[in-house]
Amino acid sequence: MSEGSLTFIHQHVPGKGKAAKTTLLMLHGTGGNENDLLDLGRTLLPGATMLSPRGKVLENGMPRFFRRLAEGVFDVDDLQRRTYELADFVRDACEAYSLDAHQMVAVGYSNGANIAASTLLLRPEALDAAILFRPMVPFVPDQLPDLSEKRILVAAGRHDPVANPAETRHLMELFSTAGAAVQVHWHDGGHELGDEDISAAQNWLSTIAGTVDPKRRDR
Ligand code: MLT
Repeated sequence: MSEGSLTFIHQHVPGKGKAAKTTLLMLHGTGGNENDLLDLGRTLLPGATMLSPRGKVLENGMPRFFRRLAEGVFDVDDLQRRTYELADFVRDACEAYSLDAHQMVAVGYSNGANIAASTLLLRPEALDAAILFRPMVPFVPDQLPDLSEKRILVAAGRHDPVANPAETRHLMELFSTAGAAVQVHWHDGGHELGDEDISAAQNWLSTIAGTVDPKRRDR
């Protein structure tokens, strides 16, 4: 698979030093693009490799990762189809850029967090871990996958009108029931990110990123 045949417009930022082993899959929110979250990625884990695709759906000119029927009402068929497409892109990009497929950490905000959550439910092999900023429940699968190897941080806003706290708890329950190690960081604000969200994600990432093998941490 060559870089030219990858099916999403994207940024690939090569990493530096020890952190380069980890790839941050940066997934923007509605109206964002492949450049939006690169500074966030550099802040979260300096030196990490970054892969940042642009969502292919346009809603009034604003890129998204899947269609919605109304605010908070998802077109689940489209979401699922596009989840497979994104997971295939991640697999192909690992080959094209020689990335370690077992050090792939999704960092998604809002619509990007929702497709990351959907990827964990439908194509869990595509991700090793995920930071989900302001996610919702993308859909409830008939059968939960085995997520016992996955580590997930959910950063939620106590006053978020879009991804409300009940939604956050439901998503955490799904992930926990599937066996994932899930942590939540509650921010005292709404849908926008605050500085505390960033520090919580930095701290969490420093415990799981390529520099630390989680299976050896306790030995
Ligand atoms: C979505 O459509 O994924 C959520 O409503 C978040 C957003 O506004 O993008």
